Amino acid sequence: MLLLAIETSCDETGIALIQADGGLRAPKFKVLQNAVSSQIPLHRPFGGVVPNLAKREHLKALPLLYAQVMGEGANAARLWKKIDAITVTVGPGLEPALWTGIEFAKQLAQTQKKPLIAANHLEGHLYSFLLPAAAPKSSASRAPKIIFPAVALIVSGGHTILLRMESFSKWKRLGETRDDAAGEAFDKVARLLELPYPGGPEIEKLARTGNPAAIAFPRPMMREKNWDFSFSGLKTAVLYYCREHPRADKADVAASFQAAAIEVLVRKTIRAAETCGARSVILCGGVAANKALRSRLKRDAAAHDAALFVPEFKYNLDNAAMIGVAGWFAHMRKKHYPLVADGGMEI
Ligand code: KG4
Ligand code: ZN
Repeated sequence: MLLLAIETSCDETGIALIQADGGLRAPKFKVLQNAVSSQIPLHRPFGGVVPNLAKREHLKALPLLYAQVMGEGANAARLWKKIDAITVTVGPGLEPALWTGIEFAKQLAQTQKKPLIAANHLEGHLYSFLLPAAAPKSSASRAPKIIFPAVALIVSGGHTILLRMESFSKWKRLGETRDDAAGEAFDKVARLLELPYPGGPEIEKLARTGNPAAIAFPRPMMREKNWDFSFSGLKTAVLYYCREHPRADKADVAASFQAAAIEVLVRKTIRAAETCGARSVILCGGVAANKALRSRLKRDAAAHDAALFVPEFKYNLDNAAMIGVAGWFAHMRKKHYPLVADGGMEI
């Protein structure tokens, strides 16, 4: 199945061409095209994403990315003959931004007479580890062999969720954040340290030169017997520390904050894996780009005989390739989400 995928949920516009085969038990994917246009420099002066600016930029970027992916004239016509369906993110995300993608996809579906599949952005992150690293020509596009049950940690700018997965199509939410998402905490602490948006990569860079044991920040909810998280207290602890120690070494603050956030994420995920008898752990979402988090979770999962699955770096942040995968799974699972923007859509 060849899918044209569209992503506009936040501050990246994405259009991708994905080929999917193999069925639900042994899915295989090939990324034929994956065009992404980031709006980060535009939002940076505001310290976060401005929804109406995002909408305007998606409207500008969509036709450009479309031309880049599909080519023009006869080339595009030839590709359209092979495309089986279009898929688009309907949520969660910023609704004005989501609508730009949905309307664009609806118009294409109408003019090209192709079915349109609604995709869940969080499912895109969840499945993104299945996307192959290599270029399409050289790649056999063999997906990694995952053994279920698995525990999945979705950590992004808007979400921190733990799932127990029985298969690619069956899962249960174990827990989630009760306040800020992990990525949001990275972004807010970065702002405190006067680092640019988005803060996650900036904190990670600065933390490399700091001492993670310099400051004993709290590890909220780490020992509580549930699968929920809380990051707002940790952010506040950093705020108070910086107020009381205006001359504190920023690298030490960044490293100590990152160590606290990672320890909570890893410990709770590993405890969930233990409890569920998980053979695999999946780490995904923007914060999964954090190398310290990846390596610590890999080490601790291995100590519990569980394999860690993480997406390639280029598929950690928002992109349409992962939406192609999510759309294909939705189609295969007969999950027909409404073609309406749903900012608070759940997984
Ligand atoms: O998944 P994503 O691109 O967008 C959402 O769906 O939210 O995630 C963006 C989030 C931001 O909060 C960003 O600061 C964080 O992921 N992030 C990181 C890193 N790279 C991105 N957090 C920690 N370390 C990183 N290297
Ligand atoms: Zn995302």
